[in-house]
Amino acid sequence: MGLFESLPAEVSLYEVSLRDGLQNERATVILRDKLRLADALANAGLKRIELTSFVSPKWIPQLADADEVSRHVSRPPGVMWSALCPNARGLERARAVGIEEIAVFISASETHNLRNVNKSVAKTLEAFHEVIAPALASGLRVRGYVSTAWGCPYEGAIDPGSVVDVARSLLAQGCYQVSLGDTIGCGTPRQTRDLLALMFREFQVPQLALHMHDTRGTALANVLVGLEMGVRDFDSSVGGMGGCPYAPGAAGNLATEDLVYMLAGMGVGTGIDLEKIVEAGRVAESLVGRVLPGKVHQAGIRGLRA
Ligand code: HMG
Ligand code: MG
Repeated sequence: MGLFESLPAEVSLYEVSLRDGLQNERATVILRDKLRLADALANAGLKRIELTSFVSPKWIPQLADADEVSRHVSRPPGVMWSALCPNARGLERARAVGIEEIAVFISASETHNLRNVNKSVAKTLEAFHEVIAPALASGLRVRGYVSTAWGCPYEGAIDPGSVVDVARSLLAQGCYQVSLGDTIGCGTPRQTRDLLALMFREFQVPQLALHMHDTRGTALANVLVGLEMGVRDFDSSVGGMGGCPYAPGAAGNLATEDLVYMLAGMGVGTGIDLEKIVEAGRVAESLVGRVLPGKVHQAGIRGLRA
């Protein structure tokens, strides 16, 4: 089958700027401004938005206001606010403020996992029994992340087999979907094809998402490979904000505007209004006080439409 012969009519985007973006910004954004960005994202048509993290405020001070943000965020119909949640304490906090979906996170790399959550991969998976099953029992949806799926800042190359193993455990524990993280944005298209071919031997399309960081400019190319191979869920961050405090060199996530622009041009719907998401990017930029790296964010869309 030739290239682009099996493109879907629609894919689902999962917005991570309020969490992945802000966790790595020097500026501490105040509650009212986070809510302004949340409204702008929802107004642009995003339906799945990661709002914050219920982690230790000592580890991630930028998201120390997770409880307040969740309590005050507006709840437009059809918008699912999600939040990172590493342990039972996080789940308790998420439940108390009416979060409907949580995301657990773990790395395929032992060293990155240790730096990120202070535990081995095996111990982290074991500890998730205190998070995932109780969350499901109280009616929450649970998503999972496998970080460093393309490479690790400490260990280098990662065995794709270990990515499959960790994803299998997350799905077996009840995650509805596993998002594969290119944490340091080192992946290239052939590697993406090989990794996804391995994953699709065992997992179904709705069970996999791609979470690409754009550190080396390969995020969109990897998304395109994913799209061709059947992936229908993609994570992105407005303006290309983002990174990981425990992954030196990790730059921003793939920019939502770049993804929406490319997909729209190929006839793949996202439900997101390009002009409004560009406006949301302006809001994001005004909050963090630095020029955001997204390409469409910087180039704008003026003059592109008849
Ligand atoms: P720890 O120090 O091993 O845990 O941290 P602990 O149980 O010993 O607790 C230490 C302190 O944290 C205690 O407070 C706890 O109460 C508190 P103290 O007694 O010292 O005052 N604590 C909490 N406070 C609030 N909420 C909680 C909570 N849990 C413990 N839920 C822990 C373990 C996981 C908590 C810590 O390592 C942590 O918070 N890490 C943050 C990790 C993180 O958020 N990383 C960035 C997100 S992952 C990412 O960006 C990658 C991703 O985007 C995908 C990709 O790109 O690949 C998802
Ligand atoms: Mg990330």
